[in-house]
Amino acid sequence: MTEPLTAPAPKPGFKDQIDSLQAEVEQALDRILPSEKTAPTALHQAMRYSVMGGGKRIRPVLVYASGLAMGIPLSHMHGPACAVELIHAYSLIHDDLPAMDNDDLRRGRPTCHKAFDEATAILAGDALQALAFEAILEDPLCADDDRSRIEMMRLLARAAGHAGMAGGQAIDLAAVNQQLDLEQLERMHRMKTGALIEASVMLPLTGHLHVRQQERDSLGRYARHIGLAFQIQDDILDAIGDTETLGKTQGSDMAQNKPTYFSLLGLQGARNKLNEAHREAIQSLRDFDEKADLLRQIADYIVERTH
Ligand code: IPE
Ligand code: IPE
Ligand code: MG
Ligand code: MG
Ligand code: MG
Repeated sequence: MTEPLTAPAPKPGFKDQIDSLQAEVEQALDRILPSEKTAPTALHQAMRYSVMGGGKRIRPVLVYASGLAMGIPLSHMHGPACAVELIHAYSLIHDDLPAMDNDDLRRGRPTCHKAFDEATAILAGDALQALAFEAILEDPLCADDDRSRIEMMRLLARAAGHAGMAGGQAIDLAAVNQQLDLEQLERMHRMKTGALIEASVMLPLTGHLHVRQQERDSLGRYARHIGLAFQIQDDILDAIGDTETLGKTQGSDMAQNKPTYFSLLGLQGARNKLNEAHREAIQSLRDFDEKADLLRQIADYIVERTH
């Protein structure tokens, strides 16, 4: 089933801002990843291959956008920005393994276990997860005191672990050939994808006492809605996108008989849910001024993206 997807009209300035934030995190990641020349070289090559080879960088961009909306300097956010992208890269390596989604293509290139081997891919994922916590520990600017640093690591650990991404992935695998109802599907999406997106928005605020509770609550609501929207659009694109644009194999969910928003509700039903989550996300930011425009544009981008 195919339907042509038209690229969204670029918004003035938005692309430049995103490009420059992507460049920021890429430089920071390059600084903290181990050299390919030092042993064990295959492991280090696999880590760099999976982190540096493209990707939209939506999670680190969210870290920066959330912090900037609250007046936090960019230079204070590189640790958490790297951390969420490292967890994400690790989750993709493991997600693509034969024991999970068994995918051969990621970001337009062979998946990590195809380019290297399964054992190296497993270890690269393990090492990237550990490096994510080091990124926060070793960044001198991202926290003023140890308490804030610990709190950041707690947020990240919860988002990545059994109550977040890893737990959601377990539900996803258990759901192959099963029917989930809408509530179960939403829970799975909120855990496997939403939790890390939510952490991306909340991490930079840690320790910044000038951010009021009401603002934190609003940003938390925004994050939950875009986190769900992000995975709904991922499900839609898996069903109706094309492999070349996606950089990953179209139809992977259907081939494995995974329950998704598309399989449960059909294209229009999934789009309705997506638009509802987008509306709620924008609504959550109603008390914020133009400093939150980047967050608003990211919400638009999440529902309009074609890959
Ligand atoms: C894909 O994430 C996996 C999901 C959690 C849906 P992205 O669509 O952010 O992947 P990259 O980083 O841009 O390749
Ligand atoms: C991935 O969901 C969620 C992760 C935590 C990696 P998918 O399995 O749908 O992601 P893609 O479509 O392979 O990128
Ligand atoms: Mg998966
Ligand atoms: Mg997958
Ligand atoms: Mg998918």
